[in-house]
Amino acid sequence: MNVSARATAASLRGILSRTNIGRVSARSIVTLAKRSLPGASIALRNSAIRHKITVPITATFSQIRSLKTLDFGGTKEQVYERSDWPKEKYQEFFKNDTIAVIGYGPQGSGQSLNARDNGLNVIVGLREGGRSWKEAVENGWVPGKTLFPITEAVQKGTIVLNLLSDAAQKELWPAMKPHLTAGKTLYFSHGFSIVFKDDTHVIPPDDIDVIMVAPKGSGRTVRSLFLEGRGINSSYAVYQDVSGKAKDKAVALGVAIGSGYLYETTFQREVVSDLVGERGVLMGAIQGLFLAQYEVLRANGHTPSEAFNETVEEATQSLYPLIGENGMDWMYACCSTTAQRGALDWYKPFHKAAKPVFEELYRKVADGSEARHVIEKNSSPQYREELEVELKEIRESEIWRAGKTVRSLRPERKS
Ligand SMILES: NC(=O)c1ccc[n+]([C@@H]2O[C@H](COP(=O)([O-])OP(=O)(O)OC[C@H]3O[C@@H](n4cnc5c(N)ncnc54)[C@H](OP(=O)(O)O)[C@@H]3O)[C@@H](O)[C@H]2O)c1
Repeated sequence: MNVSARATAASLRGILSRTNIGRVSARSIVTLAKRSLPGASIALRNSAIRHKITVPITATFSQIRSLKTLDFGGTKEQVYERSDWPKEKYQEFFKNDTIAVIGYGPQGSGQSLNARDNGLNVIVGLREGGRSWKEAVENGWVPGKTLFPITEAVQKGTIVLNLLSDAAQKELWPAMKPHLTAGKTLYFSHGFSIVFKDDTHVIPPDDIDVIMVAPKGSGRTVRSLFLEGRGINSSYAVYQDVSGKAKDKAVALGVAIGSGYLYETTFQREVVSDLVGERGVLMGAIQGLFLAQYEVLRANGHTPSEAFNETVEEATQSLYPLIGENGMDWMYACCSTTAQRGALDWYKPFHKAAKPVFEELYRKVADGSEARHVIEKNSSPQYREELEVELKEIRESEIWRAGKTVRSLRPERKS
């Protein structure tokens, strides 16, 4: 049986198991698969009932490099899933590689630990004596064996995962570049350094592969989902393909560092959507919205516990998980008709008010001004202290102090 017939047989077996046709012998399935063209209708008779099924077209294509085409709300996109790169396959693919993970923030720690647990040959590169070095040693990386100063790790690595902070990627590039010799692979989890190269001066040598896997979540979640046997969604991209295998490397590494499925992007599209998302709904807009509603409730005499419950606690503990489970209409459907009526009427003015802000945000991200601002602020030697001042201001504002008390009352936190 050729590959296409074998795939068709496998799909037919799947379809038949979901019908009420009953048992069809393995030989009949193979015969059908050999004779049938994808897309053709075939008839099966079992007892007195005649069934008609369509031979799946995707059965043929699913065998080609594991790529799947799925319909995302009417637009067709291609994805890879974890099952496309089983552990034995990527262990074999990377058997001669040393994966050097540079940086041990949320992404560096999550990705290096997952790849190590998945059986790849991983080393970590950090500045000696830094906060990350101490954490890496606590996580079992051994100085001189699997933990090295940054340039030494880049020298040893055949695949270098640059997971320093975006500002440090700029600062350390002149030290790293000479060790990125012909045939190596340079990997990022963000398009930032490459796309904003006029500001970062990160311009890779043209004889190495340059790829990206960008997990869609914090590195902490990359690790926690992996430990739960789940996987984070990630995008992947190829910027330079010298070996002809850059895409395979990106997808295989994506799976090895803990992705559940991967969708294709470019460095440019990733960085713009990512910067917009975190400044917008994921982080910036959400604090702005929470705060505005809380302030209005407080100004009109509502207590902090009432204002916090109606603004944040109900959102994060009850309603947002429903959106994650089954979509916005499902969350609406799970609420009272009074709540539904209000939400359906009021999302429109909020949408109208927010859209120009998102448009301005997109412009500032796309023209590089946001990137320049990030590099300037995060290159300051005091950036951690300055950041802490701003985080403290939020932590100590009334809304989040009220939140601390509300969270302490959750029954599961009391036991
Ligand atoms: N965090 C996320 O949610 C997320 C999600 C997707 C993609 N990404 C991308 O993944 C990459 C890593 O992000 P991250 O959040 O994991 O890391 P991060 O917290 O931004 O960076 C931390 C690492 O950079 C090192 N570092 C900072 N300044 C340094 C310097 N001057 N010299 C040497 N090392 C320095 C730190 O070492 P020390 O401890 O020694 O200071 C630490 O190991 C970035 O490109 C980011 O955009 C992040």
